[in-house]
Amino acid sequence: MTSAFDFAPLLPAGLPAPAAKWTGLAKYSFVGGNNDPDQVPVEGLIEAVNAVLKREGKTLATYGLASGPQGYLPLRQFLTAKLKRDAGINCSADDILIVSGSLQALDLVNATLLARGDTVVIERDTYQGSLNRLTRLGVNVVGIPLDQDGMRMDALADALADLKRRGITPKYIYTIPTVQNPTGTIMPQARRAELLKLAERYGVPIFEDDCYADLIWDGKRPPAIHAMSTNSNVIHIGSFSKSIAPALRVGYIVAPWNVLSRMLALKTDAGSGALEQMVLAEYCAPHFNSHVPKLTSGLRAKLDTLMEALNEQFGTSAEFVDPKGGIFLWVKLPDHVDTLKLYQAGLAAGVAINPGPEWSTDKAHAGSRLRLCFASPTHEQIREGVAVLAEVCHREFGVPARSANVEKRGRA
Ligand SMILES: Cc1ncc(COP(=O)(O)O)c(C=O)c1O
Repeated sequence: MTSAFDFAPLLPAGLPAPAAKWTGLAKYSFVGGNNDPDQVPVEGLIEAVNAVLKREGKTLATYGLASGPQGYLPLRQFLTAKLKRDAGINCSADDILIVSGSLQALDLVNATLLARGDTVVIERDTYQGSLNRLTRLGVNVVGIPLDQDGMRMDALADALADLKRRGITPKYIYTIPTVQNPTGTIMPQARRAELLKLAERYGVPIFEDDCYADLIWDGKRPPAIHAMSTNSNVIHIGSFSKSIAPALRVGYIVAPWNVLSRMLALKTDAGSGALEQMVLAEYCAPHFNSHVPKLTSGLRAKLDTLMEALNEQFGTSAEFVDPKGGIFLWVKLPDHVDTLKLYQAGLAAGVAINPGPEWSTDKAHAGSRLRLCFASPTHEQIREGVAVLAEVCHREFGVPARSANVEKRGRA
């Protein structure tokens, strides 16, 4: 056999590290933004795909269907109505670009606005996918601490003033204001108004990522920052990943044409997957409003199971705030617990967690924190997985000293 062709000498400088091969999900998987398999509306999606293909299947012969490069028009029309009703956003179908998951939205916004050496302001604890992109682009990130109401405006004001003194105007302020990832906070309307004031004062646009905005326990949300802006300085992105299914890969950008047109010019894939867009539009127009409350009540029940399991297994060693929605719990363990090490040891025992440092600009602050996704494991897996995690954590760090009110032997 001849030896395999060596591609290495051909690779340009600056490529990311090679991807690891997928080795399957852990037995107890609390990682990623996966959803509850039992809550995917499979029957409704089957009906929708049949109906829409029978009616409009022939439009698949044309790139972009009969809707042009911004995405399937009925889906953009559904979004126009939904965003008005839920988030107070006044936009037309022409203000929306359908993308392949909101990850593509992050890429397009970044490609449009950022160059190596630029600075952006983001929440200190934030989405790993956003952080990794910024690191790879060589962009400086300024992390702003959060409290129970999301990004702290006193800290933001200080950071913007400090940057200005140093002659730096950040390219954007990135926020996940409505069910923040990973902290689960919702920024109240008054704080959104403060954020807009600061952004305007310093001439910085806001990048609003509303990925989890549909998953709120009481269904009530403040208006989107985009809706409250008076000078078109907000780029708003959203997704169907958390409300319907992440594998569909459908997200969207709402932005003024002067910047949306620049993103569209960078979207060189000749349109996002058409079938997904057609099915979503067909399903969501009649069913979205009744689907979401069922989904959120199921997620809330799983969160309750997770919090109960943590209380039982970790006692006071695990601190967390009951989030207002979403699919994640952000947990603090005692300071000496290193969650990067806990992650490795947990994996060996079949439990996958997201270690805090990967979700924060401040690695020390997040060193003893972890993020747990409660949407995809079953109630039973949640209970068992947390018990295994407590065993591993006790073995590695002597924490918790007691589990289920029973003193643990050994290290403690
Ligand atoms: C805050 C945030 N933004 C964007 C995304 C990307 O989601 P998707 O590309 O599936 O829409 C995620 C995924 O978990 C997220 O948590």
